Amino acid sequence: MAGGVAATAGWVIAAPDPLPASALKPHTASIENGKRLYTTAGCLSCHLPAKDNKQADMSLPSGGRVLKTPAGAFYPPNITPDTETGIGGWTGIQFINAVKRGISPDGRHYLPAFPYASYSKMSDADVLDIKAYMDTLKPVQAENRAADLPLGLPVETAMRRGLGIWKIAAGFDPTEFVKDTSKDDIWNKGAYLVQGPGHCGECHTPRDWAMAMDTSRWMAGGPHPEGDGKVPSLRNLKSRGRFKDPGDLATALEFGETLGYDKMSSGGMAAVQTNMSKLPAEDRTAIATYLMSLE
Ligand code: HEC
Ligand code: HEC
Repeated sequence: MAGGVAATAGWVIAAPDPLPASALKPHTASIENGKRLYTTAGCLSCHLPAKDNKQADMSLPSGGRVLKTPAGAFYPPNITPDTETGIGGWTGIQFINAVKRGISPDGRHYLPAFPYASYSKMSDADVLDIKAYMDTLKPVQAENRAADLPLGLPVETAMRRGLGIWKIAAGFDPTEFVKDTSKDDIWNKGAYLVQGPGHCGECHTPRDWAMAMDTSRWMAGGPHPEGDGKVPSLRNLKSRGRFKDPGDLATALEFGETLGYDKMSSGGMAAVQTNMSKLPAEDRTAIATYLMSLE
């Protein structure tokens, strides 16, 4: 009996907690801002079609490319606006709950390989702008592929039901970015882009026992999410002689290894750097200003 009560209580606290539509403020979307944040967030980089899918348009996030993690191989789904196989017809609040809370429209928890723990730092307005931009993309019909987990278990039983407990154990706390008023606007913009859409901490911050980002060691480097190699620390970049100043780092983010910078290509960083190169210069400067301030 007591066990039943405890189990029920456990289920209640672990149940998805979506934001209600009434929580949204009126918003006029900016497609241009949405495109910029979609690029910063690397949505396409993860939701690309499979490499061997010869007919696929590689500029559209129709999904299917393998994302290897220590927990198994995942195939990020089709997020083009196709109404049957993609996310066409989703409402703004459904999209926000997916991107910022890791909750699907039918109330399931998403796997944290989808970096919503970082995206939760974004404002609702910015997430709605991303949706407005994605709504302009060509819809692609492409069925989603189930994850390959060890022992061939289905993802629903092996992982998804436990994710509510994981969100609690990992201290998942969907709170938006708060400005540090002791710092200037450029620094704050950089902090927002790095912590929120850029989700740089997902790779550059070590993880604790619950596999959550250990914020006490923010950006101190960590094991690679794919399981091989190390992700370098982004602290003390100046005193360790990695970059001279924010301008130097901004140049590295723009041009990567083509200009002789090293450590900018392996383990997913090449895609990040390519995305950074497409941003307006002021965004790279802001990101570099924030990162160079981490001692
Ligand atoms: C690091 C890889 C990664 C990045 C970057 C990423 N996603 Fe995903 N996304 C995933 C994975 C993996 C899933 C599947 C999660 C699951 O099955 O529980 C997913 C699922 C989704 C879903 C749910 C789709 C559905 O059919 O239920 C949406 C919507 C989505 N992502 C949108 C985005 C957007 C928008 C961005 C950029 C802001 C983005 N993703 C960036 C990996 C990623
Ligand atoms: C998918 C994981 C991943 C993400 C996300 C990621 N990085 Fe990296 N980053 C790496 C890896 C791995 C390396 C080392 C690459 C190498 O050695 O070739 C790296 C290297 C770097 C370096 C070079 C460090 C040095 O000592 O020279 C910088 C700067 C950097 N990343 C910035 C960023 C920024 C800014 C973001 C967010 C916009 C980001 N990274 C997001 C994995 C990632």
